[in-house]
Amino acid sequence: TRSIILDCDPGHDDALAILLAAGDPRAELLAITTVAGNQTVEKVTRNARAVCTVAGVEGVTVAQGASRPLVREAIIAPEYHGDSGLDGPDLPEPTVPLDPRGAAELIVRTVMDREPGTVDLVPTGPLTNIALALALEPRLAERVRGVTLMGGAYTRGNRTPAAEFNIIADPEAAAAVFAAPWPVTMVGLDLTHQALADDAFRSRVRALGTPLAGFVEELMEFFTQSYARRGFPAPAVHDLCAVAAVLDPDVMTYRDAFVTVELTGTWTTGMTVTDFEGLLGRPVNTRVAVSLDRDRLWDMTVAAIERLGG
Ligand code: BDR
Ligand code: CA
Repeated sequence: TRSIILDCDPGHDDALAILLAAGDPRAELLAITTVAGNQTVEKVTRNARAVCTVAGVEGVTVAQGASRPLVREAIIAPEYHGDSGLDGPDLPEPTVPLDPRGAAELIVRTVMDREPGTVDLVPTGPLTNIALALALEPRLAERVRGVTLMGGAYTRGNRTPAAEFNIIADPEAAAAVFAAPWPVTMVGLDLTHQALADDAFRSRVRALGTPLAGFVEELMEFFTQSYARRGFPAPAVHDLCAVAAVLDPDVMTYRDAFVTVELTGTWTTGMTVTDFEGLLGRPVNTRVAVSLDRDRLWDMTVAAIERLGG
């Protein structure tokens, strides 16, 4: 099993990431921490707790984190996720408690209290909490098993032509995460645009017939419309892929590279500059996800939803 801290900003695809991390038998979900991203931190925290409530996920620590990036002004993504950050279904009043600790503190405590090399950090929002945790406790870098993040890309952006949302939302934090001496896996847009939640996947979820399956279907219906406005046949469920990579690394293939984040570009701030060929003469610091076994991803996701909502 993998012991996971999921640091997220739900978010439709973050919600699926929570369900996989909570429902897959190979996962021990130690904590869910939240960060301002798709919406304000108050909204995404409520969403994370509401998802846990719908899914019957009790006993997972949920802690709220940063309300703004390290240096820059906050940006949000209502054009993809709506005004609540999780538009579509009716969200229940959360019954899952909120831990009084801040996310960065909780991340440090959870990792440092466990055996070295046993905890996976899975950030699926802007990297503010992770950078703050690292600043609080630099030994974090040698204590975690690794960081598997959804963010960036080696070919393109989605917020700007060069930058993906989670990276440009807090580029200084992202730069610190790539620069730290821990094993980083980048699950970027090149990979996640292979994970389009098409009707074949959605019918499998619908066929489960549980209340949770209905909730997921309502999420996917809204998310499909958001992506349709941008010319996609189906929505990319980015964050789900990062959790899947930790639970079942063979669900995708990887290439090693040196990755760094552009902080001073005229047009390219937030770009994850990815050097596969060693052109910059820097040591490899990242395992970059390249190609996805989509059927395998859907199989484990449907199974997790079934397991939770049974
Ligand atoms: C990322 O941005 C957010 O809108 C999604 O939840 C995902 O984490 C994709 O660029
Ligand atoms: Ca996200």
